[in-house]
Amino acid sequence: MSGSGPRRPDGLLAWEWGEGGNIVKRSVTVTVNGVRHTHEVEPRLLLVHYVREVLGLTGTHVGCDTSNCGACTLLMNGKAVKSCTLLAVQADGASLQTIEGLAQDGKLHPIQEGFWEEHGLQCGFCTPGMIMATVDLLQRHPEPTDEQIRWGIEGNLCRCTGYQHIVNAIQHAARTMRAGSTKAGRSA
Ligand code: FES
Ligand code: FES
Repeated sequence: MSGSGPRRPDGLLAWEWGEGGNIVKRSVTVTVNGVRHTHEVEPRLLLVHYVREVLGLTGTHVGCDTSNCGACTLLMNGKAVKSCTLLAVQADGASLQTIEGLAQDGKLHPIQEGFWEEHGLQCGFCTPGMIMATVDLLQRHPEPTDEQIRWGIEGNLCRCTGYQHIVNAIQHAARTMRAGSTKAGRSA
């Protein structure tokens, strides 16, 4: 996409407008939780709004309009991203994972279990983003220190828990996942 051109007062580039002032939609194809989707979207549509409003996956939350809170965190090509900081068109061709894609066959993911067991949530609003950030964190640090956990979730705000229960939940998840991979290694 060409990124240049005169901007209209509403922030859109001139090339994004067609005849008669209508916005020219663009095709986006993404794989979300293993399912492929293609939609025509406005170029200005944020990824978080695409996921929530077009795909109906409302587990990804919107908690701010300043890119601070992390409630909108999901995985894009395996890495945690704040989906309010990306346009849907920037995710074209990507593989996304949202909180809805974590539990398998009716069984909670070990990270979800950890939050349950260690009371890692109160109101739960930050929890989906916190959990998706944790997926990325534990991929990079399967045996994290408390400090690595605190750095790993620094982009995610929680107004309820005071964070220590979240750190405990992530340690619980890390232990469960390590035990699971040892068991899988033994039985392989
Ligand atoms: S909604 Fe707050 S960082 Fe995305
Ligand atoms: S549990 Fe309420 S914001 Fe984190």
